[in-house]
Amino acid sequence: MSIISFSSSHEMRLGFSLLLLLFSLCGAMTTALNITALSSRNGYSVLECWQLASVPVDAMAAANYALGNTTVATWSTIKPRTTVGEAWAPHVQLSMILNGLIRITSPSPESANSSDSITSINSSENSLRPATTVAYIMPGTTKSSLLIAADLRSTSHITGHYTEFPSDEPTVLIQVPFMDNLAPEHIVLHDGPCL
Ligand SMILES: *[C@@H]1O[C@H](CO)[C@@H](O)[C@H](O)[C@H]1NC(C)=O
Ligand SMILES: *[C@@H]1O[C@H](CO)[C@@H](O)[C@H](O)[C@H]1NC(C)=O
Ligand SMILES: *[C@@H]1O[C@H](CO)[C@@H](O)[C@H](O)[C@H]1NC(C)=O
Ligand SMILES: *[C@@H]1O[C@H](CO)[C@@H](O)[C@H](O)[C@H]1NC(C)=O
Repeated sequence: MSIISFSSSHEMRLGFSLLLLLFSLCGAMTTALNITALSSRNGYSVLECWQLASVPVDAMAAANYALGNTTVATWSTIKPRTTVGEAWAPHVQLSMILNGLIRITSPSPESANSSDSITSINSSENSLRPATTVAYIMPGTTKSSLLIAADLRSTSHITGHYTEFPSDEPTVLIQVPFMDNLAPEHIVLHDGPCL
């Protein structure tokens, strides 16, 4: 016996649309892209897990997600065991790692801005300082190998992130800037990298 019974065709239609809605919500939840991102909050760079709004389109035997308009892509090779220190996104961009390892700590524990110091915990500025989180970007899974960097110097004006390439091998990246520094539409799932 069915748990839900419909007494009229109107209720049945309503039930059916609710079912469709639930189905599409579940579908969207399981297929949405989650990408680790560097963003800016209160003038500080922070790591966040972004869920992109992009809805996949079936074509060419694939589920295709539009990521946005982009400009000139760059292939970058970084020497083993390189410490960059405090850094900012040069553009709002998607980075894909093909080899090596990036360790990102954000906000950066050290800052060129002498007015920001992790030790001066009592300044009014530092009460707005977000908690520090760490991300490891490396080849292996789709989740581990992608990063959207959107923490521009103009928005992370107090402190950027801290970048290291600690691997014994060169780190190889493909970096794709978004046109007009427009990050893909997204919601923030949580602080820190996507798990
Ligand atoms: C993205 O995150 C949501 C919420 O945690 C989760 O339900 C979904 O399965 C994730 N998507 C992928 C492709 O892992
Ligand atoms: C990409 O550029 C095209 C052409 O200028 C524009 O119509 C479209 O809205 C842009 N897409 C996004 C996501 O900005
Ligand atoms: C910061 O403020 C708290 C509470 O007012 C105080 O207990 C603490 O000693 C202060 N720390 C420093 C380093 O001044
Ligand atoms: C340092 O941080 C202060 C406080 O937000 C900001 O006004 C200033 O522009 C920053 N200076 C530099 C050099 O980034």
